[in-house]
Amino acid sequence: PLAIRGRVLSFDADPALVPSGGRGAVRYIEDGLVLVEDGLIKAVGEAPAMLRELSAQVMVADHRPHLILPGFIDPHLHMPQTQVVASYGAELMEWLQKYTFPEESRYGDPAVAAGASRFLLDELLANGTTTAAVFCTTHPGSVDAFFAESLSRGLRMVAGKVMMDRNAPPALLDAAEEGAADSEALIARWHGRGRLEYAISPRFAPTSSEAQLEATAALARAHPDLHVQTHLSENLGEIDFVKQLFPWAADYTAVYERYGLVRPKGLFGHCIHLGDREWRAMARGGATAVFCPTSNLFLGSGLFDLARARVEGVKVGLATDIGGGTSYSMLRTASEAYKVLALRGQTLPAFEAFHMMTAGNAAAMGLEERIGRIAPGLEADMVVLDSQATTALRRRMERVDNLADELFALLVLGDERSTVATYAAGRRVFDRRSGPARPAHA
Ligand code: GUN
Ligand code: FE
Repeated sequence: PLAIRGRVLSFDADPALVPSGGRGAVRYIEDGLVLVEDGLIKAVGEAPAMLRELSAQVMVADHRPHLILPGFIDPHLHMPQTQVVASYGAELMEWLQKYTFPEESRYGDPAVAAGASRFLLDELLANGTTTAAVFCTTHPGSVDAFFAESLSRGLRMVAGKVMMDRNAPPALLDAAEEGAADSEALIARWHGRGRLEYAISPRFAPTSSEAQLEATAALARAHPDLHVQTHLSENLGEIDFVKQLFPWAADYTAVYERYGLVRPKGLFGHCIHLGDREWRAMARGGATAVFCPTSNLFLGSGLFDLARARVEGVKVGLATDIGGGTSYSMLRTASEAYKVLALRGQTLPAFEAFHMMTAGNAAAMGLEERIGRIAPGLEADMVVLDSQATTALRRRMERVDNLADELFALLVLGDERSTVATYAAGRRVFDRRSGPARPAHA
């Protein structure tokens, strides 16, 4: 067993609010201890009292005066886009054709996919992110590479093979039956191994034929508990294209509804330009709208309407969308979310932002029973954050005297330099200083 000592901060879902909405109840212990056993959180409480009861065999990682939070959760990003990030000067459809599709074409090579997966996981863990929903490429081997690397690190990861059979370069296309069959084989090979979960991943409506969406519908019906991840209503040109391709559909969301994909654990990236009917359809289906602020700003897609999602009762996730997005850091992502909402005349209090990055994103992914909080029985995925990691943070903190303001400054000014350590299933998977764990009573 291992114990982690520091300022423990976690958020309980507030049942009075939308499942992933609101800030939830704040749980804060100034001198807290998290006891970990067999990869799970065994107990949480006041450190002095708990240490008196614990045997001297228990190793204590003393992270005072740093904050201990649930590991961050990133519900939308693309493994093959780590070398697309920061590509100049295009909106979505041109960006895909000019930069993204050519890059993803390289991922038929298993060595490329393995290297990118290693890089991505290193980067996520350095930023305190312990779970993500990940698009790989059309190539089944890209999923094998990502899952193998995730399994070896003991991470809870959700990922899938992109299905697309039109409107992309031939090297990236599968075919209706082939895409579903390859997905089925990947589910058999990976889903449920360690903490891995397979996500059914049609890229988005413009790159799938109706035959492929039919096959996807059958796959989704056969696996009602799996995640589905795709993109929805990100860009006006994209929406026009969907209108041309699916003239029978009332709107973009209706395409996914027709194939049974608007359902619980359905993760719909962006949802910038939804109409009234579409918001209601998302709520009715129990699906999640994923807010990707750095991507939406970078690609000029638009401003997500968080207040609308809350009013409609639609679950919301907050995600990086690497590589349309520009940062691996959930702190940076939340900071940009704050600014997007400021342009909309909305606010994002610090407690709500940290709730979204942890318990909120867990609920948005249907994983609230396993991750997202520091509570007994949950998986021991945690990040230790230093709110004084940089000169700018230290300067600001001189004038901060309460937790909400400290967290807000950390969110606006912080990045991976604030990550002291990251734990997954109770194992230290990233460490800023490689400091050793020390025995209790020492
Ligand atoms: N829509 C379809 N594919 C993509 C992608 O890779 N990134 C983003 N941001 N939007 C998409
Ligand atoms: Fe995306």
